[in-house]
Amino acid sequence: MSTLLENIGSLVTNEPALGRGPLGLVDDAALVVEDGRIVFAGPRAALGRAAADTRVDLGGRAVLPGFVDSHAHLVFAGDRTAEFAARMSGLPYSAGGIRTTVEATRAASRETLEARTAALAAEALRAGTTTIESKSGYGLTVDAERTSLEVAGLVTDERTFLGAHVVPSEYAGRADDYVDLVTGAMLDACAPHARWIDVFCDRGAFDGDQARAILTAGIARGLLPRLHANQLEAGPGVRLAVELDAASADHVTHVTDEDVAALAGSRTVATLLPGAEFSTRSPYPDARRLLDAGVTVALASDCNPGSSFTTNLPFCITVAVREMRMTPDEAVWAATAGGARALRRDDVGALGPGARADLVVLDAPSHVHLAYRPGVPLVAQVWRGGERVIG
Ligand code: NIG
Ligand code: FE
Repeated sequence: MSTLLENIGSLVTNEPALGRGPLGLVDDAALVVEDGRIVFAGPRAALGRAAADTRVDLGGRAVLPGFVDSHAHLVFAGDRTAEFAARMSGLPYSAGGIRTTVEATRAASRETLEARTAALAAEALRAGTTTIESKSGYGLTVDAERTSLEVAGLVTDERTFLGAHVVPSEYAGRADDYVDLVTGAMLDACAPHARWIDVFCDRGAFDGDQARAILTAGIARGLLPRLHANQLEAGPGVRLAVELDAASADHVTHVTDEDVAALAGSRTVATLLPGAEFSTRSPYPDARRLLDAGVTVALASDCNPGSSFTTNLPFCITVAVREMRMTPDEAVWAATAGGARALRRDDVGALGPGARADLVVLDAPSHVHLAYRPGVPLVAQVWRGGERVIG
């Protein structure tokens, strides 16, 4: 089965060899999809009189790769409306709020968790996210963490074991005992259900030594490291991520020159999460400083009930452009190819031959409109594996 998508006004391929600039932009473009993969991406004129089983006329609209959301926390129950409202009237954000969600998640049935996680994944898909990662981290017992990963496995593409989100209240004052649990029985139960291991290495959560012990234990079990680093203060997280060749250091809000240099000399991606600074009314990470130093930057939602209750990557792109000094091209790249790099995936985030046919059609002539038209729902169609799933 082949499908020809034609009359694409502007196509982002993220393959510089196929078009202009780092986005590999092509005007008056066409795509041909076969068996869920791209087999042609380029100018319509270069295709000649192509034969295809199905032809779709996109009416001059823009097409870009589906968003790759490399950082989300989709499995939880309850919400933190009151905490958000209190913050908007002046209270600061702290990691401690995570325990409220842990309590609600532990009390919820598996059916409830499945339904809520599926609803969030569907919400993300409607906004153009075709690859999504989810972490555990709101169970914090052996059973509840394993269940969280099993639930995430039903509707997400990548799973991360985050037993080290915070020290749960029953371990108050006994953080080292909790680290033993995370690196022992909890890791045993969770490793088969995840590809990644993560630690919240920050004020109020885990310090650098604890984070190193947990990530090292995960690596020994075949998991790959990623890290919540430097969200609340300039701690050891970013340098630890680089030391362990983590795929990504996430948040990266408070960084020293040494942190920036370490990232620039590594293959660790800096995943910026503008929804978190937006919803905690905190200073944004300085994306310009990172990009100018040569750091690879991704943008992700950080969808969670405490610090960033959004699944919407167009919103994150808008904020990154307006508040973090990214260009629209850089932000679109970061939310697609950048997310793929942060997940060490080479089959998504770009639309060259061989890539998965995961793409977004915008009701706009160019990808720049994602930032230029803030808050407007421009995602008209979403295709996943060559199938039109939205619109
Ligand atoms: O990525 N920073 C740690 N974890 C989440 C917040 C979790 C919460 O507040 O529930 C984050 O922002
Ligand atoms: Fe997070």
